[in-house]
Order: sequence, then C-alpha cells, then structure tokens
Amino acid sequence: TAEELRELLLSRIRDVADYPQPGVMFKDITPLLADPDAFRALTGALVEECRRSGATKIVGLEARGFILAAPVAVAAGIGFVPVRKAGKLPGATLSQGYDLEYGTAEIEVHAEDLAEGDRVAVIDDVLATGGTAEAAVELIRRAGAEVAGVSVLMELGFLDGRARLEKVLRGAPLTAL
Ligand code: PRP
Repeated sequence: TAEELRELLLSRIRDVADYPQPGVMFKDITPLLADPDAFRALTGALVEECRRSGATKIVGLEARGFILAAPVAVAAGIGFVPVRKAGKLPGATLSQGYDLEYGTAEIEVHAEDLAEGDRVAVIDDVLATGGTAEAAVELIRRAGAEVAGVSVLMELGFLDGRARLEKVLRGAPLTAL
C-alpha cells in the first residue's frame, strides 16, 4: 500500500543534524539507495507516476535527482534528459536563473533534448523551497514542451514549496512519495 511504501522510504532516510550548516537538518537518502528493496520500491512508484501522467520524457535534476530519474526512465522505456547546474552541458542550452536564500543559481538543459509535443515528468529527491523545480518547469516550457507532472521522494512541508510550485503547474500533479 501507499502507507507501507511511505513507512519503508521514511525508515531509510537518515536525518543529519547541523549539515551542511548549523541549524539545518539534512535528509540523507544514501541508506535508501543502499537498500535494493527500498530503491526498487521507490523507482517502481515513480514509474507508476510517469505512466499515469502519460510522460514521454523524464527530466532529472542534478545531482541527486539523476540517481532516481535514470532508473525510472529505463524502466518506463522513455528518454532521460538531464537538467544541470550552469556550465556543465556542452551543446546549445536554455538557462533559467532562480533565487536562493542568499544569491542566485542557474540551471540548464540542452535545447535539442526537449521539443513541442513532449510531455515531461520531472523527478527529484527533495522539494524544499520549490525554487529548483519551478525553474525546471520554466525551462521545459521555454523548450516548447509540456509538464506532465513533478514527482519527488519527499517534500519539506514547512518550507511551502508545494504552494509555490502549484502556482506554475497549471493543474499538473505534484506527487511526494
Ligand atoms: C537539492 C535537492 C533539490 C533542491 C531542492 O539539491 O536535491 O534539487 O536542492 O531545493 P529547493 O526546493 O529549495 O530548490 P542541491 O542543490 O543541494 O544539489 P545536489 O543534488 O547536487 O546536491
């Protein structure tokens, strides 16, 4: 059941206090990745989400999003498109900036990887403020493609990323397992 999956996933996420800075409780997913049953259950649930949304492409968000999105793309039999931090992709890119708590960041995608007619499922490990996912949604639309949905392993509810992201999702689903 969904509840059993939730319990399994939660039991494999480690809370690390004061990392990477004092006052921050870091969610470490490496115990989950090291447990093949939990990792398989997670990717299976993400594949289900992609099928339900009719996705034709999977976008993973660097870096931890790649770890989850790539096996999902293979299992779902659809293409994987990396959205990377600025300066890492060699071809013609589209770039999207977004605000961080202090300063700004920029993510990029190869323009030729997405096109009109694509329905794109976005996969990442954590939804925190929603800034990264929101920027990815903008990139996908600027490439002419449509967002089928956003799926994450977990959302940090107290940061309200969901409210921010839902404003730009135009009704596409945001699923946090
Ligand atoms: C983390 C996480 C998400 C993002 C969520 O990535 O994996 O991509 O932050 O934060 P937001 O909702 O506030 O935008 P990070 O930038 O730490 O990169 P990494 O995966 O390369 O470690």
